Amino acid sequence: MKKFNVSLVGGGSTWTPGLLTSLCKLKDRFPINRLVLFDIDKERQETIGNYAKVLFNEKYPELDFRYTTKVEEAYIDVDFVIMQMRTGGYKMREKDEKIPLSLGVIGQETCGAGGFAYGLRSIRDMIKTIRDIRKYSKDAWILNYTNPAAIVAEALRREFPEDKRVLNICDQPVNLLRSYGRVLGKDSKNFEPVYFGLNHFGWFTNLYDENGNDLVPELRKVIKEKGFIPVDAEQRDKSWLDTYAMVQDMVNDFPEYLPNTYLQYYYYPDYKVSHLNPDYTRANEVMEGREKRVFEECRRVAKAGTVEGSVMVHNDAHSEFMIEVAESIAYNLKKIYIVIVKNNGIISNLDDDVMVEVASVMTANGPRPLAVGKIPTFYKGLIESQSAYEKLTVDAYFEGSYEKALQALTLNRTIVSAKKAREVLDKLIEANKEFWPEFK
Ligand code: NAD
Ligand code: G6P
Ligand code: MN
Repeated sequence: MKKFNVSLVGGGSTWTPGLLTSLCKLKDRFPINRLVLFDIDKERQETIGNYAKVLFNEKYPELDFRYTTKVEEAYIDVDFVIMQMRTGGYKMREKDEKIPLSLGVIGQETCGAGGFAYGLRSIRDMIKTIRDIRKYSKDAWILNYTNPAAIVAEALRREFPEDKRVLNICDQPVNLLRSYGRVLGKDSKNFEPVYFGLNHFGWFTNLYDENGNDLVPELRKVIKEKGFIPVDAEQRDKSWLDTYAMVQDMVNDFPEYLPNTYLQYYYYPDYKVSHLNPDYTRANEVMEGREKRVFEECRRVAKAGTVEGSVMVHNDAHSEFMIEVAESIAYNLKKIYIVIVKNNGIISNLDDDVMVEVASVMTANGPRPLAVGKIPTFYKGLIESQSAYEKLTVDAYFEGSYEKALQALTLNRTIVSAKKAREVLDKLIEANKEFWPEFK
């Protein structure tokens, strides 16, 4: 069995220990020769690197493991690069959430004005990093989790149009599939989904079981009657439970398809704003929760010198999805995964150059998306306006255009008013001086 060299960008991410744990668990399916963690933050990288040394010493002793802050060490002779970076860190995420909320519009990591702000920060670093990777490893598969994935995918499509080995993915469809499994008391591994939309902006139209029965009608019924919770509800913070609970409202209003949880911000912007606290947002919850927990546990394990008894609570769906996508590419398994690809007729009544999220057969040559066909007017209208917002955001980045930025935010359903859009934009420009291109 061929063994692969893997690098992880954003090696100091809060998701890294979970991913490393899953790499150990799945090492017979996706065996690694060399693993390099790369981060620009030496301290974060070292803390997680020292934890990883202890983990691998016990669980993966044959692995050649390194961690670094040097580009050349990270990207030489690598087969798969996994990316999960956050330009500006949680401190900037906090601003993305709080600035819009303080002005009465949605402030969220990837949706609305917050996602816009984060997108304009991510593009620059993502482009630089992919150039760095390509300097050393021309053919490496680049599997990207970095958010906001919709905007990152659109920017990378434009900057690297010939590069067929950059794939943007999101774990939320898998989180939902596993949660459907919990609701129905079935193993989601046997589900075959039909899904369409944009990243954090999509719907399940069908969900087939191993016998070809569509489970959507039953799921719809159960969600309407009993509500909806995540598969790992016991480990979730309150804001995530609130988010999953909103699926019931969405299914009541639009029962046709099962919505991605992120649609709550677009269906109910005013309601969500009135239920979000502008002084304490998800960024605060994460900084006081996951970030603290993960780094404390890494330090504890490094000191103890053993992972024995260590409980690193993590989202299996997130880490296993990434590894399974890599595995399916590595061994041409042709398994079906929901990923972000260029439309090219998949949704037949939508422009070809939209980056859509759909079910695809994952082959050694990457995703071969499954046809969706024509989508109904409601979804088409929503997707076209959201896609125009995404494209204008990326235009604003490449052209340094204030006008395009203003158009983007005005089109976003969470904002709508051009006066509000200008107000939010001006405050975000002030807060993002260090990261954004200069707007003319
Ligand atoms: P985090 O801040 O804990 O981790 C990000 C790490 O990236 C930090 O250690 C930081 O120093 C590092 N970093 C920043 N800029 C970098 C650069 N230019 N090069 C290399 N490293 C850099 O954040 P997190 O919450 O753990 O999330 C990490 C990323 O994964 C975010 O972009 C997040 O949105 C994304 N994510 C995406 C999905 C998805 O569904 N696509 C799911 C989970 C997380
Ligand atoms: C889901 C989404 C990701 C997002 C993450 C946020 O997994 O698919 O895109 O980054 O949730 O989680 P957090 O716990 O940081 O709010
Ligand atoms: Mn996502």
